[in-house]
Amino acid sequence: MVCSHQRRLAGAIASDGIVEMKDEVRAACVMGWPVTHSRSPLIHGTWIELNGIAGVYRHEEVRPESFPAFLTNLAAHGYVGGNVTVPFKEVALTLTEPDERASAIGAANTVWLEGNQLRATNTDATGFIDCLDHATPGWDTSPGSAVVIGAGGAARGIVFGILERGIERIYVANRTQARAEALRHQYGARIYPTQWHDIPRVLGEAGLLVNTTSLGMVGQTSLDLDLRPLPDHAVVADAVYAPLMTPLLRSAERRGLRIADGLGMLLYQAVPGFELWFGVRPEVTAELRALVARDLEADL
Ligand code: ATR
Repeated sequence: MVCSHQRRLAGAIASDGIVEMKDEVRAACVMGWPVTHSRSPLIHGTWIELNGIAGVYRHEEVRPESFPAFLTNLAAHGYVGGNVTVPFKEVALTLTEPDERASAIGAANTVWLEGNQLRATNTDATGFIDCLDHATPGWDTSPGSAVVIGAGGAARGIVFGILERGIERIYVANRTQARAEALRHQYGARIYPTQWHDIPRVLGEAGLLVNTTSLGMVGQTSLDLDLRPLPDHAVVADAVYAPLMTPLLRSAERRGLRIADGLGMLLYQAVPGFELWFGVRPEVTAELRALVARDLEADL
């Protein structure tokens, strides 16, 4: 349900002077600081156009000190919902009615109005799993364990998704060991904090290797792992999407392994939000992927 003050009505004055009201224009946004690099407006804008929806999706660069007031007055700003990104994903939980998933992960990335209530969820976990299901189908049929590199915000969503899919053992290696321990504390005994030097050993039984750190991103050093110990059926995924083919994914391909890139995760995590705000479940197509990939490449 949408309150009247949230509505933006598109009116057009006809030749007889009578205002014809067109469909409601529903507006959503991505809130972050900074946020102009976000590809969410391109993704949602493309879906809005393809689905013929009277909608708009914008960037909202919100200063950290203004974020609580902005989010809690989202309707007054004309929005029916939106995405929350860095650095607001954790604080958004405390300002909304989060669902179980967002609470369990400890961060929200998608908000929407349900009546007067501002609800929140986290679509990073399903985005990651949906991406794997599409890019590397069957990845979970003989998975063994999973190895996750990194234990920051991105890892929290990804690990939740892997746990939910039923993988029994998740090795987490992080530069700062205490953060890997914190993930075990958060998610329980299926998380195995792992020393960096132990990675080659745990790769030997892994069906999935995921990089959740910023290593490999343009301007950063690459994540140098020897992938030879991985079983031949293993899948390698990287949350980094600039560049699309990270050094890790390149070496996985050279090793003959199946890969899933960060752009897939970005596209699939956007699907549930669009459906919540605009009422249509959008499709992740090869055309959309190519469009966003071109836009990302232009920045490299
Ligand atoms: P995000 O929300 O993108 O996950 P984050 O919470 O700051 O961002 O986490 C960044 C992750 O990348 C962490 O796992 C971080 O390791 P630390 O916890 O030790 O900081 C990892 N990371 C970033 N730069 C790194 C580097 N140069 N070497 C190794 N790990 C790095």
